[in-house]
Amino acid sequence: MSRIVLLTGATSGIGRVAARKLAEQGLTVLFTGRDREAGREVRSEVRRAHPESDGEFYRVDFADFDAVRELAREVRADYDRLDALVNNAGTSRSERRTTEDGVEFTFAVNHLAPFLLTNLLAPRLRDSAPARVVTMTSALHENGSLADLESVVRGENFDGLDAYADSKLANILFTRELAARLDGTGVTANCVHPGWIPHTDLVRNATGFSKLFTSAAALVASVAPIGPFESVEGAADALVYLATSDAAANVSGAYFDRRERSSAASVADDPELRRRLWERSAKLVGLPASVPEGDPMA
Ligand SMILES: NC(=O)c1ccc[n+]([C@@H]2O[C@H](COP(=O)([O-])OP(=O)(O)OC[C@H]3O[C@@H](n4cnc5c(N)ncnc54)[C@H](OP(=O)(O)O)[C@@H]3O)[C@@H](O)[C@H]2O)c1
Repeated sequence: MSRIVLLTGATSGIGRVAARKLAEQGLTVLFTGRDREAGREVRSEVRRAHPESDGEFYRVDFADFDAVRELAREVRADYDRLDALVNNAGTSRSERRTTEDGVEFTFAVNHLAPFLLTNLLAPRLRDSAPARVVTMTSALHENGSLADLESVVRGENFDGLDAYADSKLANILFTRELAARLDGTGVTANCVHPGWIPHTDLVRNATGFSKLFTSAAALVASVAPIGPFESVEGAADALVYLATSDAAANVSGAYFDRRERSSAASVADDPELRRRLWERSAKLVGLPASVPEGDPMA
């Protein structure tokens, strides 16, 4: 029976290419996005490249936690195993916006939604062990700070780049705490910075300096795609490597720069901050702080 992976945010950018590469490895690829038409296109693209591949598109907006719950319910109803969850979907915005729950949008989409989804799917991953959780972060986490967690949650004194960096720091703290909580279950948790890929849609909502910065980076990358710059293909390779390779099978709680194990900012090692973020996140999405122990959907 083929291995099954759930890949979020596969309607554009890195995820779209990773969907094809995962199918190439023989995996059944379940993938998400917000646009049904784009989902259909990606499914056709994958099927054209790999006619034998199985897969399915799920439409979900990660700013809506009820929709995330519905996604977990559907995946659990449709498939009785899950070998890997790849938390790739992400956003960056220049203007402050909050979800219906009053949480700043970037923090909700980039951190709370994958936190919720992972915990709801953890029982299925545990039952399918060995299994993996891979979460996309960014080297920009180094500019992040969660010292004043409440102001990050509410998006006070909002700055788009700071909010993005904060959410990407949260991805690493989440991964480390998850790895510790899943220790001994056969489920690993790692996170990855995919390199700088200025050609994706990530900055479509950006304005001003962020837009200028990424346009300049895109120009540099097109002339010399070296050093910190990466192609979409190379970034997707890194995701696939972490989700499927034997070499990464027994690594957990680690931060990767593409395929290389690397050091994250020292604040990402703070056990007190890790615990505080976990407990606050659980409360914000309505889960017990003991997750992923037990089955929150039972
Ligand atoms: N590009 C870079 O240089 C870079 C660097 C470091 C880290 N990353 C990380 O890599 C990941 C992928 O980014 P990318 O560059 O490939 O960007 P992208 O082209 O914008 O793709 C992002 C994906 O996430 C989905 N998404 C965005 N907002 C969503 C929401 N509210 N609900 C559900 N899905 C949503 C998008 O779906 P829709 O098409 O429906 O919007 C899309 O499928 C992100 O986590 C990003 O932070 C990227």
